[in-house]
Amino acid sequence: MPISDSQKKIVTILADGEFHSGTELADTLDISRSAICKQLNQLIEFGLQFNAVSGKGYRLESALQLLSDRLIKKHLSAAAQSLIAEMEIHHCIHSTNSYLVEKSRQTKKTAVVCFAEYQTAGKGRRGREWVSPFGSNIYLSILYQFQQGPAAISGLSLAVGVAVIRALKDCGVEGVGLKWPNDIFWQGKKLAGILIEVSGESSGPCSAVVGLGLNLYLPKEKAKSITQDWVDLSQILIGHPVKIRNRLAATLLNHLMPIIANFEQDTLLSYLEEWRKYDCMKGRDVQIFIGQQTFSGTVKGIDDNGLLLLTDERGNVRAFSSGEVSFSKT
Ligand code: BTN
Repeated sequence: MPISDSQKKIVTILADGEFHSGTELADTLDISRSAICKQLNQLIEFGLQFNAVSGKGYRLESALQLLSDRLIKKHLSAAAQSLIAEMEIHHCIHSTNSYLVEKSRQTKKTAVVCFAEYQTAGKGRRGREWVSPFGSNIYLSILYQFQQGPAAISGLSLAVGVAVIRALKDCGVEGVGLKWPNDIFWQGKKLAGILIEVSGESSGPCSAVVGLGLNLYLPKEKAKSITQDWVDLSQILIGHPVKIRNRLAATLLNHLMPIIANFEQDTLLSYLEEWRKYDCMKGRDVQIFIGQQTFSGTVKGIDDNGLLLLTDERGNVRAFSSGEVSFSKT
C-alpha cells in the first residue's frame, strides 16, 4: 500500500520528534481526530513508532530528517553533480534497485540516482530481504550505463565498498571495515550492504544498478528478522545520525559517483591498496559457503582480481570468486 498524502503530511509534522496534539494534526490536515488515529496506525506498518501521551498528543519515538532534494544538492560536490542526470526521491517504492533495473530498459540516461524513505521489497544479496523501515536509513541505488561489457566492470563492488568507507570517514564514522566481497562492517557487525545488478551484452554496452543499504537507526522491533549480527550508526556515533542524513546521502554520492563513472578506465587496480587497508577479514578463520559446499580456511586477503584467498589447513591457497563468508566461532 503506498503512503498517502495525509500520511506524508503527518510524518513531516512529526519529524521534529516533538509532541503534536491530535487537534493540531486534525486542524492542519483538515480531517477528524479519529482519521488521524487511523492514519497513525497505518504508519506503524511502514516501520514508524509513535508515543501517544494523553494531554500531550503524539510524537515519533525517534526524530527524522526526511530526505530532501535541496539539502542533498546543498552538500553535493560539483563533480558528483555533473555526473548525475537525474535524482529521484521516493517516499515508498518496492525496491530502489528493482525500480532502476526496470528503468534501465527504457532510458539511456546516466547516471540516475534513486533514494527511498521506505522499501516494501528491499532486496539483499542471495535473495535475502533488506529490512527497510521508513525514514531512518539510507536506501540508495545508482543506475550507470557503461560502454563496455560486464567483464570490464568486474570488481566494481569492491571499489564501491571503498567509496562507502571514504564517505563514512568524511562524516566522522571511524573503525569501519570491509568484509569480502562488499559488506561494510563495524566491530564484527554489519553496518551496510551493497547489491550490484548488471545487465547487457558481453561485448557491451552494459548497465549496472549499484544499490546501497546503510543502517542509521534500525528499530529493534523491525530488525527481528535479520539473522546476521547488525549495527546502525546510532550505536556508533555520538549524537543522532538522522541529523546528518541528507549530508551523508550527498557525501556518499560525492565518493560513489566519480568512482563508478571512471571505473572502466581506472579498474579495480586503483582501489586494491585501499581495500586491503580496510579488510576486516585478513588473518581470520572463516567458512565460505558455495551452493551446498563449505570450505574452511584462514583469510590471506584478496588477489589483484578481487578474488578471496583462503589458506587451508594444509597450507594450500585457494581463490574464490563468489560465496557467502562467515567468521568461524572462536
Ligand atoms: C546485502 O545483502 O548486503 C545488500 C543489501 C543492499 C540493499 C540495498 S537498499 C537500496 C537498494 N535497493 C534494494 O532493494 N537493495 C539495495
